[in-house]
Amino acid sequence: MKILLTGGAGYIASHTCVELAQAGHEPVIVDNYVNSCPEAIRRVEQIIGRPVPHYEADVSDRAAMDRIFEENAFDCVIHFAGLKAVGESVAQPLRYYRNNLDTTLTLCETMQAHGVKRLVFSSSATVYGNLPTVPYREDMTSAGCTNPYGWTKFMIEKILEGQSTADHEWSVVLLRYFNPIGAHESGLIGEDPAGIPNNLMPYVAKVAVGELEKLSIFGNDYPTPDGTGVRDYIHVVDLARGHVLACDYAASHEGCEIINLGTGHGYSVLDLVQTFIRVNHVDVPYVIAPRRPGDIAENWADPTKARALLGWQAEKTLEDMCRDTFRFQQKNPKGYRG
Ligand code: UFG
Repeated sequence: MKILLTGGAGYIASHTCVELAQAGHEPVIVDNYVNSCPEAIRRVEQIIGRPVPHYEADVSDRAAMDRIFEENAFDCVIHFAGLKAVGESVAQPLRYYRNNLDTTLTLCETMQAHGVKRLVFSSSATVYGNLPTVPYREDMTSAGCTNPYGWTKFMIEKILEGQSTADHEWSVVLLRYFNPIGAHESGLIGEDPAGIPNNLMPYVAKVAVGELEKLSIFGNDYPTPDGTGVRDYIHVVDLARGHVLACDYAASHEGCEIINLGTGHGYSVLDLVQTFIRVNHVDVPYVIAPRRPGDIAENWADPTKARALLGWQAEKTLEDMCRDTFRFQQKNPKGYRG
């Protein structure tokens, strides 16, 4: 299949691009590089051994999107493009709503106009909010999001559900990611956050190589086994494989399905840090700091539906995630810009 990846130079998208190409598909990228780098595409091309067609454009630019759809007969679209920093979304809600909703609406209008009706969307476990029971299942009612970023994911899910109800030819798969970490085992592509990382694993990696002094663990008084927050960390390559299967699913079904992509296992902050130290033989100095506002104690996925519908399950371990992250960090101390 010929598959358009919006935001295709980003962290999850670049890994998905590799898996799609290696499964025999033809990925095409559109990205405005607002939070990514064309070097990621060059690295993808290095891994797969052939060029990947790519366009520099904003997904909310209808004329540019029309040109891209005129030049390519797409079978499916994976919509990754979007702003994704939780804290930034609290400070700049209008920018987040404008960007994430405009890009989605323009994309869907362009798809409709060109008769492309299969869409896989990058949603997030954040749409569940802080539910009282774990694991999280797709049919659970959201407890409400805690920040504008989360609400954009929530609203986009509703937009796409509405479109698939209105036009039965649409096939939509809403993938709710848990906590993607890790990197391709080549060490060529990985997560390259701009500035000081907000998320745990990129922060740990930068402390491990001495770029940051120490990790702050946000709270050790949660009602969890060791008091630190528990999350469902999933290797980005497992996640990427889930997208390949979601495209196959969209090609053979109509309607709208919500599917969790997680391992089904929760690990604490301390589990992750100690595993990272053990498998990489490095020190990661840390201090216990106050809780981060908006954080929840624990969540992890019920991945049963992904297995039933996609035949997918996560295969890589927390050790793999820690090893692969460190390899990318060591090979690319300044990220893609180095
Ligand atoms: N944490 C620390 N120190 C840090 C960073 C994080 O202790 O410097 C802790 C957090 O308190 C939390 C855990 O590590 O317990 C994971 O935090 P992340 O920031 O890595 O991830 P979150 O679970 O907060 O958020 C992630 C994505 C969001 C997404 C959400 C979905 O970043 O985009 O999962 O559940 F919405």
